[in-house]
Amino acid sequence: MGEDEQREEDAQNYYKTGNEYYEKGNFDQAVEYYNKAIETDPLFDKAYYNRGLAYACKEEYDKAIEDINKMIELKPNFAEAYYILGLAYEYKNMPDKAIENYDKALELNPDFKDAQNRLELAKSKKEKAKEVTTTEPGTLAKVGFLEKPNINFNNVAGMSYAKETINEQIVYPFKNPQLAKKYGKMAGGGIMFYGPPGCGKTFMAKATAGQCDVNFIHARINEIVDMYAGNTEKNLHRVFETARKNSPAVVFFDEMEALGGKREADMQGFQKMAINQFLAEMDGLESTTENILVIGATNAPWDVDAAMKRSGRFGKTIYVGLPDKKSREALFKLYCKNRPLGRVWWGRLARVTEGYSSSDIKQLCDDAATIPWKEAYEGKKERPISMRDFMKAIRKRKSSLPEWFGTVRKQLVGKKEKVVQDGKEHWVEHESKLSPEEKQLYNDLIKDVKQYTEWRYKIPRRIKVEFAKWVF
Ligand SMILES: Nc1ncnc2c1ncn2[C@@H]1O[C@H](COP(=O)(O)OP(=O)(O)OP(=O)(O)O)[C@@H](O)[C@H]1O
Ligand SMILES: [Mg+2]
Repeated sequence: MGEDEQREEDAQNYYKTGNEYYEKGNFDQAVEYYNKAIETDPLFDKAYYNRGLAYACKEEYDKAIEDINKMIELKPNFAEAYYILGLAYEYKNMPDKAIENYDKALELNPDFKDAQNRLELAKSKKEKAKEVTTTEPGTLAKVGFLEKPNINFNNVAGMSYAKETINEQIVYPFKNPQLAKKYGKMAGGGIMFYGPPGCGKTFMAKATAGQCDVNFIHARINEIVDMYAGNTEKNLHRVFETARKNSPAVVFFDEMEALGGKREADMQGFQKMAINQFLAEMDGLESTTENILVIGATNAPWDVDAAMKRSGRFGKTIYVGLPDKKSREALFKLYCKNRPLGRVWWGRLARVTEGYSSSDIKQLCDDAATIPWKEAYEGKKERPISMRDFMKAIRKRKSSLPEWFGTVRKQLVGKKEKVVQDGKEHWVEHESKLSPEEKQLYNDLIKDVKQYTEWRYKIPRRIKVEFAKWVF
């Protein structure tokens, strides 16, 4: 091997090691290895680029800008580089420069969606900055929220099936990992809560932390990813770091589907990086400690990144579904606990609210209480909340779920659709988004989808009969 070739190989190796550190979120070490790569090969464009990203993650934006510019010098017309420059300037609170670079990125690649979004944001930010003269210096948005939950399973109405599963899969192993291990039960790892909106995934996750009596870190994937490029990784790292510093803890990632999704083919490089980072962080947890638990939540588990599921990181899934009759009854009781009540038939309320989500029921209690309260406020005699008030409220507020279930049904069950083409009718079959294995995995949800969309058409009459007794 010639001397030059040897050099090149050395540089490549330094670069690769740098990337490994980068992916682990160890940006200092990453920079050191990129330094070595650049020393060995001063024309190594990618090393400059990644070192720039690492600097950006360390919030050293001037150095980042210098490196990315060097990259552009070596490899002009690289749209992504201008985009990164734009971000760095944005974080330095220099919107004009940011806009200039986003424009340049778009000039080179007009389909650059992220650059487009960012450009619009930067422009509106600039407008706002004009309105308000004092702008905050480039602060990072809050990416997670740490708290000691003040709720536990006692505050969760009904849902006994989900509670039991969570107790078995999470709480007990977490509270006594040694015992669990002895019996071959895995503690820790990742668990995914899935189910329709408003049925208590977030609420349940928090209560789970409360039940384990540990800290709770609430992170929204949307906020983490929104931030940007290297910053996505950095934010993720921060969340896990916060968990480590505050262990034992439950880290909760809401809106998991926002990380990547199934768009693997067109997934941006950095998003892949973010997913790798996520997996690496989770691996890290496994080897160091057993007292951090990761819970993810989503109402579109089929859109959660395949790599994330394949790796087994979120192999365990728990369905947090529609409240059954018993749960609905408990929900009504819970949300009316401190309100003046007349004679109320809880069972009846539960029966006519089949298909309502937990948060719908919470709303209904509010609606019902509003009626006598308003009357009293307007000078009428104070009276307790009556069954009539509830029924009025229920008639007015329909379940918030039909739309969601409708969409999901189309996506999951597959559907035949009649289309007219060249004057002829054709049946077009839309395939299900789920593979057979996934159908098995999300069976609980699919059952609800089928049931829900089928009985929606039957229920009005039943409700009418129930209501007949209560209308004025
Ligand atoms: N089992 C329950 N007991 C008591 N309150 C509940 C229960 N389930 C849900 N709620 C109430 O409903 C609200 C909405 O639930 P939550 O935000 O947890 O739903 P979600 O499944 O996370 O929905 P999304 O998919 O929209 O994020 C909660 O803030 C809580 O007040
Ligand atoms: Mg939620």
